[in-house]
Amino acid sequence: LRKYDFPEDFIFGAATSAYQVEGAAHEDGRGPSIWDTFSEKYPQKIKDGSNGSIADDSYHLYKEDVDSPSRGRGFCLVGISKEESTKLPFATIFHWDTPQDLEDAYGGFRGAEIVNDFRDYADICFKNFGDRVKHWMTLNEPLTVVQQGYVAGVMAPERCSKFTNPNCTSGNGATEPYIVGHNLILAHGEAVKVYRKKYKATQKGWNLPYTESSKDRLAAARAMAFTFDYFMEPLVTGKYPVDMVNNVKGGRLPTFTTKQSKMLKGSYDFIGINYYSSSYAKDVPCSSENVTMFSDPCSSVTGEREGGIRDLILYAKYKFKDPVMYITENGRDEASTGKIDLKDSERIDYYARHLKMVQDAISIGANVKGFFAWSLLDNFEWASGYTVRFGLVYVDFNDGRKRYLKKSAHWFRHLLNGKKNN
Ligand code: FCB
Repeated sequence: LRKYDFPEDFIFGAATSAYQVEGAAHEDGRGPSIWDTFSEKYPQKIKDGSNGSIADDSYHLYKEDVDSPSRGRGFCLVGISKEESTKLPFATIFHWDTPQDLEDAYGGFRGAEIVNDFRDYADICFKNFGDRVKHWMTLNEPLTVVQQGYVAGVMAPERCSKFTNPNCTSGNGATEPYIVGHNLILAHGEAVKVYRKKYKATQKGWNLPYTESSKDRLAAARAMAFTFDYFMEPLVTGKYPVDMVNNVKGGRLPTFTTKQSKMLKGSYDFIGINYYSSSYAKDVPCSSENVTMFSDPCSSVTGEREGGIRDLILYAKYKFKDPVMYITENGRDEASTGKIDLKDSERIDYYARHLKMVQDAISIGANVKGFFAWSLLDNFEWASGYTVRFGLVYVDFNDGRKRYLKKSAHWFRHLLNGKKNN
């Protein structure tokens, strides 16, 4: 597999996110985010009790990291043929670090106030970085925010539902997750309204029926509705998926006003897909009117299936009007062993298989224009702390955050440097 097996203007990159790599938590006027608070208040909720206050120290070392392309014929940022596009960053406006001040003031994404505040913040980003950033993504994985932060309570801001977690004390999982999801969608819409041209919402996973029975097929459709379509459908049709409307009873699913629907409809130029794995869906009887989104679909997802990234791309293509797509995150982790281990052949195998499936989807006609590996560097993996490593580049957290290229980094470099005739 080489770069020339992909369309000529296909972009390759490697992704990171602020809280996971930057560190410098108390420098240059940076205020605390809900992740600073979460990791300080509930160290027991992070596998190794760590936090991102130093992380990869990328706040200070970023030049070393993004410079690699010019020094090393790069694997780091992008590797494409059009001169003006090399080194152009794709930026995500919100990757989960809500300012703690807004959380305190009105409940962060629980408050309707966030919608306009997010718009104003996005506006500042567009204004200051718009000359260099030509592709903006509004939200990273809104579904994860809702599920992990407001249903399961395993991520900031640690709110949960007693339906899924009997020990839960904060939050109201029956209604709150849907309000948060709603505000995320509207915040996106307002930001795009300000800067009409660029958009992405990240989505993850794709579910196929457990068996071919018609019940399981419907279960798979419901599981898709509650995951992928949840944040896609409002942007395409201005409405929530019918399967959500039918299953979230008791007025718990907010509705969009006509004006909001209009604003949301078509509010993207491309979509970003974060893909890691996918599972099978099985029909499960359910009746309660109060359950939260994990059980609302009345389906359970299990197992690990192959081919997911290709199928998800095709699902998005056929279901949502053939959008321009970028794979904005894809990758796999390995456990931290305490030793410097650069031989990550399983990661190489994973990337080779997934890139091949992306290529298959393109050959069927999907409009996929780029692929970003998660991640450039080993980093703070949220509730897993530093116990797992996702990087193409190894970071020695015990020794000055020194960087070492893993085998997969060399593999990517080789893939990107390929010329057709050699
Ligand atoms: C995604 C997140 C990213 C990272 C990867 C492994 O869900 O967007 O920050 O944690 O998973």
